[in-house]
Amino acid sequence: MIRVQRLIYYIVILAFFAFISIVVFPYLKESNATSPANTAFNKEQGRTTTSAPKKKVSDPNQERYLSWFPHSDFPEQQESFRNALRLALETKRTIIAPMLRINKIYPWMPFEDLAKRYEAQEKTTLQKTCDAHQTNWQTALEPCESIHDWIEIPWSSIMDLDVIQREYGIRIIERTTGHGWGVHESALGGQIDPEDVAVVDVMSFKENGTDWEHVDPAEEALKQKPSRFSSWLQSHLKPKQTEKLTQPLKYVLNVDQLHAIDAKIIQFGALNSAARYQTTPSEIQQELRKALMKTRFIVPDQMARLTAQSAKIIDTLGGKFQYSTLILNLSKLVAMDARAGTIQHLAVDGLKKEDEDRVVANGPSTMEDLDLKARKELMEAVVLEIFGDIPINQAVSAAMPIKPSKLADVLRLSANQPRDRRQLLDACIDYHKNVEQRYPVYYLMNDMGVAPETRPDIFGPLLDMFPCVFSKQDMLNWGIQTDSWALGQPELNDLSVDYEKLLQPLLDILIAGKGYSFFEIPTTPLTRFLNWSPKQ
Ligand SMILES: *[C@@H]1O[C@H](CO)[C@@H](O)[C@H](O)[C@H]1NC(C)=O
Ligand SMILES: *[C@@H]1O[C@H](CO)[C@@H](O)[C@H](O)[C@H]1NC(C)=O
Repeated sequence: MIRVQRLIYYIVILAFFAFISIVVFPYLKESNATSPANTAFNKEQGRTTTSAPKKKVSDPNQERYLSWFPHSDFPEQQESFRNALRLALETKRTIIAPMLRINKIYPWMPFEDLAKRYEAQEKTTLQKTCDAHQTNWQTALEPCESIHDWIEIPWSSIMDLDVIQREYGIRIIERTTGHGWGVHESALGGQIDPEDVAVVDVMSFKENGTDWEHVDPAEEALKQKPSRFSSWLQSHLKPKQTEKLTQPLKYVLNVDQLHAIDAKIIQFGALNSAARYQTTPSEIQQELRKALMKTRFIVPDQMARLTAQSAKIIDTLGGKFQYSTLILNLSKLVAMDARAGTIQHLAVDGLKKEDEDRVVANGPSTMEDLDLKARKELMEAVVLEIFGDIPINQAVSAAMPIKPSKLADVLRLSANQPRDRRQLLDACIDYHKNVEQRYPVYYLMNDMGVAPETRPDIFGPLLDMFPCVFSKQDMLNWGIQTDSWALGQPELNDLSVDYEKLLQPLLDILIAGKGYSFFEIPTTPLTRFLNWSPKQ
């Protein structure tokens, strides 16, 4: 009897254990793995369990990375890279640099939109879709018609990145194939564990940063109290904030927040705001900062053919620092003046019907929309602005009568007939070099893409005041600039792309950077960029 009882007893116990192991144990295991206590334990102790999915523990020796999404023009993209360098130095992370986008750029956008725009730049898939005459999300963002109107080039093809890596120990990888980011990081072969990726964008996500205006915690606490009710009202009565951001949030990522991010990859959104991403003012950071303002990562002179083309033009203008550069965006000026209500005279009588309707409805948007008087007035205002802005010695020189010289002869002899432009240039250089060293020789870039001397109705007042104004058209006419200078540059090998046209802004930057002074009307971030350029 006792034996039978004992046998039953054993069976019951066995059955009980079987039950436990089949039903309860997996449940225990699972709840164990997801409990916060367990993750904390794992973090401290390392990988003690092997079956449960493990929370990532950072290995101080593993390489860590940061990247960002590019947007806007060259100066903004360059500023983003500069900020990335600072952040990489601060966190000892390797930079995964997106390429430089040239032409058909898009402005700042919130994180998700920038990400989508970035992914859409993948030309291999875009080209396939376009070849098949199909449309999808990608062609919606990057239309097939304009596929050859923009390119991406690696930063290292125009800037010396090696010197920065050497001097500051910042490792830089360029993402030159693929547009995968985050868990799909192309530069690391994709297939990244989601836990290894942190998305950070204080311009898009409040949660990521600290309020810009946040000053004193005590003051903040005082401010908070009376606002309790209003914030309750806000959250209960107003619809949840789901509308799209139209401009960057004023939030800041401070140094502690930056260092607290442990993930292997940080994917930033836009990185063009230095103020929003802080780093310690350590000695090495200050050195980097100084270098980035004066000597490093400033002049896009690493592309041999581009640099050679710019050197020829600079040489023709009399050499480095012998000329100055003027950049005019006349359409923008017209639009600004129209908004300010200063333009009275529209050329509506001379315009085609559809242009007339447009001008009447929306106001003038180009010089052609203005009548002769208004054009003249606007250009006179530009000349005044130039006079106000150029170094005083240049202004005085320009305002004085031309002294007896080759230039005086050329101007007098050809007063009423088209000038031999090359002869004029030679006379201008001669005057500047040998007679009046502060006399300005200008290289003009303008949004209309016209040679100023062909449009006296627009550029007349400028040329009256500054006869020594030359442009790209002169360089083309003289064969100094060609429309095939990019030929032979190994990375520019897509025959359907007009590289000379797309890279013209970089050529302009190289020319302007080697000038004595530089004026942009109206100003854009390019002015800030060029003011950093080394002046010797
Ligand atoms: C930043 O905010 C986003 C959106 O809320 C969030 O997904 C992400 O995890 C945050 N990043 C960090 C490091 O907290
Ligand atoms: C000139 O300004 C207009 C209007 O802001 C802009 O659309 C255009 O791209 C500018 N042109 C150049 C050459 O910068």
